[in-house]
Amino acid sequence: MDDVAAVSPTPRGLLARFLNGAGVELGPGHHPMPIPFPGVSVRYVDRWQPEENLALFTNLEDGASFPRPDIVANLDVDRLSALADESQDFVIASHLLEHLANPLAQLEDIQRVLKPGAVVVVFLPDRRFTFDRKRSATPIAHLVAEHRDRVTVVSDEHIEDYLRKTDVWDPSWTLEQQREQFELNRQRSIHVHCWSEDEFLPVLEHTIVEMGMRWELLDAVFNDDVPDRFEFGFVLRRSTVPANPRVMADRLRLSWQVLASKSREDAEAARQIARIRALPGFPVMERAWRVQRRLRRRVTWVPGGR
Ligand SMILES: C[S@@+](CC[C@H](N)C(=O)[O-])C[C@H]1O[C@@H](n2cnc3c(N)ncnc32)[C@H](O)[C@@H]1O
Repeated sequence: MDDVAAVSPTPRGLLARFLNGAGVELGPGHHPMPIPFPGVSVRYVDRWQPEENLALFTNLEDGASFPRPDIVANLDVDRLSALADESQDFVIASHLLEHLANPLAQLEDIQRVLKPGAVVVVFLPDRRFTFDRKRSATPIAHLVAEHRDRVTVVSDEHIEDYLRKTDVWDPSWTLEQQREQFELNRQRSIHVHCWSEDEFLPVLEHTIVEMGMRWELLDAVFNDDVPDRFEFGFVLRRSTVPANPRVMADRLRLSWQVLASKSREDAEAARQIARIRALPGFPVMERAWRVQRRLRRRVTWVPGGR
């Protein structure tokens, strides 16, 4: 593929430039990651076949289609046991970790299957801009307890918290109806946990300092870069550099903060430009500048020059 127009400059398209070689996408749903660059082969891992997904999600727009998984796995139970250590050039986990009963265990297994120097591309919803806006951020201690207890099932308590705070819970449900709702939502998979972009950074630091994972941050997009601000995403490389975990975590935090502040500055500049363009006299001024620029070019033009 050599057509630059085919490479989408969307946040997902931008981070997809780090995908190279052969890897897996976990939980592609009906929005698999775009792969606009050549030289990439992806296998899909999901717990449901397309027909099962369509039966569970009857509210989807017509024509929604799910790629057939190459590996069927319930990641809460099986994790990535189908994949050998250090076998993947990349892993994609887009809007997946928040659905899992034990996200730290999943991150651990992602690191295990990545070759040294290989990357994981993660996208997560930012809870402040989704139906999670009334829910609290999942504290790191909560994740640590789930990891310690080797949790493999999403509990009724998590589902009830989700249903109540997203205004789905109906107080008139009988106990039987409540049980049905728990089961249905366990199958459909809910946002078991949620974070904003700033709240997820300590999770990454924890995986390095306390769990011995070795991540370098290659790039990130933040909610300011995304229409409706509903998600953020980042690319981590399984580091090949021997470094003290605290140093590695500090580097990651600083890189994250630098990229986040650039994203906020760019968004603020775009808002200022939009405000100026909306001023009543702007179209007249813009026409005048264009004429001025054209005249200036004519005056400085030298025959034979550039
Ligand atoms: C919200 S969809 C994400 C779709 C797409 N990746 C995106 O970014 O929009 C969540 C995906 O994770 C999968 N998933 C959720 N829990 C899972 C589990 N325990 N095991 C395997 N797949 C799971 C779902 O089947 C679905 O494909």
